[in-house]
This record gives sequence, C-alpha cells and structure tokens, in this order.
Amino acid sequence: MVQPLVIAPSVLASDFSRLGKEVRDVVEAGADWIHLDVMDGHFVPNITFGPDVIAKLRPHTDKVFDAHLMIEPCDPYLEAFAKAGSDYITVHAEATRHLDRSLQAIRNLGKKAGVSLNPATSECSLEYVLDRLDLILVMTVNPGFGGQKFIQSQVEKVERIKSMIGDRPIRIQIDGGVTAETAPLVTRAGADTLVAGSAVFKGGTVESYRENIAAIRAAVQL
Ligand code: DX5
Ligand code: ZN
Repeated sequence: MVQPLVIAPSVLASDFSRLGKEVRDVVEAGADWIHLDVMDGHFVPNITFGPDVIAKLRPHTDKVFDAHLMIEPCDPYLEAFAKAGSDYITVHAEATRHLDRSLQAIRNLGKKAGVSLNPATSECSLEYVLDRLDLILVMTVNPGFGGQKFIQSQVEKVERIKSMIGDRPIRIQIDGGVTAETAPLVTRAGADTLVAGSAVFKGGTVESYRENIAAIRAAVQL
C-alpha cells in the first residue's frame, strides 16, 4: 500500500525557549506532522520533555502529534501521553518487555500505535505484532541526540520491513540523519514518513524552515 509522503520535523532541533512559536513556524513552513522526542536519561543518554510540555503545545496546531518515546519503562506513562494529545505513540521494542501488551495499550487509549527499532535490532521482532501496528520507526542513528550521521545499513532493513508488511496500512518512518541527500535512499526502499531535526530547523527562521522542508520533498520526488 502506497501512503502519501509525510515530513515530520523533530522539535528536538528547535529553540526550546520558544517551543510554541517554533511549532507554529514549522507548520507554516510546510510540516505535515510534529515529531516529539521524549527522552528519559535512562533508555537514552539524554533528557528532553514529558507529557506536560506536549499538552501545552497541543493548542498551537492541529497537525498530527507524533510522540517518540525513548523511555524505559514506557507502559506506566502511555495514558499520560495519550491525554496530552499525542496522535501516534511510538515505543521502542528494546524498552518494553511485553511489546504486544504495550501496543494493545496504545490502541486501547484510542491512539495510533508505533514501534521503533534501534539500528542493531532486527526487524524479526516485528513479525508477531504486525497486526497491532500503525507505524514502524526505523532508527537510522542511535537514539538520544540530533545531528548524528545516517547509518547506511538500515536501508536494507527498510526494504525487508516493506516486504513484511504487505498491504497492511502501516507507515514506515525514518528517524536520524535525514537530509535531502539521505531521504531518497530510504523512500526508494519503502519509507513514507520522514523525521528530520537539524535538516529542517537549520537557519532558525520560518523562511529557512520552508526551504529546508521543500528541499527534502523535492529530493524524494525526483
Ligand atoms: C534522535 C531523535 C531524532 C532526532 C533526529 O534520538 O529520535 O528524532 O531529533 O535528529 P536529526 O534529524 O538531526 O538526526
Ligand atoms: Zn525521534
């Protein structure tokens, strides 16, 4: 199943001191979704923000809120992220002992369920949960920080996932080192949802965000 391309800027690369304005600016510049990187300083070696910040951002746009939870455990917090206004909630396969249960919990909260795989994690861990998924996030860097280099070996993983999902309406999302140069590698392999932090927020103005998003879109439509 071919899904329309989605570009989901990660606010991790934005100016946190004026997050609401950054979200409005990047939406004005052409963002399809807003990607929200939640880090706990335990599953990943960095700390960002939690559900209260997401709830405060919610009135700033009606675009899809895509919460990428890099937290362990995740289950105790799913309800809070749902109530905060997340539309998609993505958990890491490595951060939950009972992935099937976590995915059921997300859907039972009325949200779209995603699973994320670190670069070293095999796509085999998806095999028995495919029917519980709305999104598969392939990490093309090790999670924790923006501005890292794209890990090429993940392109093959994207191809394998694309054939595993068949005609299920599951999005394949890429996160980490996405630029106008790397984006075509993953869209050719089957990805339809691109997260980009530094490549979108470089320049610091709405005009530059517009150019940056347009450059990624143009690169994949060639
Ligand atoms: C990394 C985060 C990413 C990050 C990507 O752990 O999940 O969403 O913001 O940043 P860039 O696009 O700069 O690699
Ligand atoms: Zn992310």
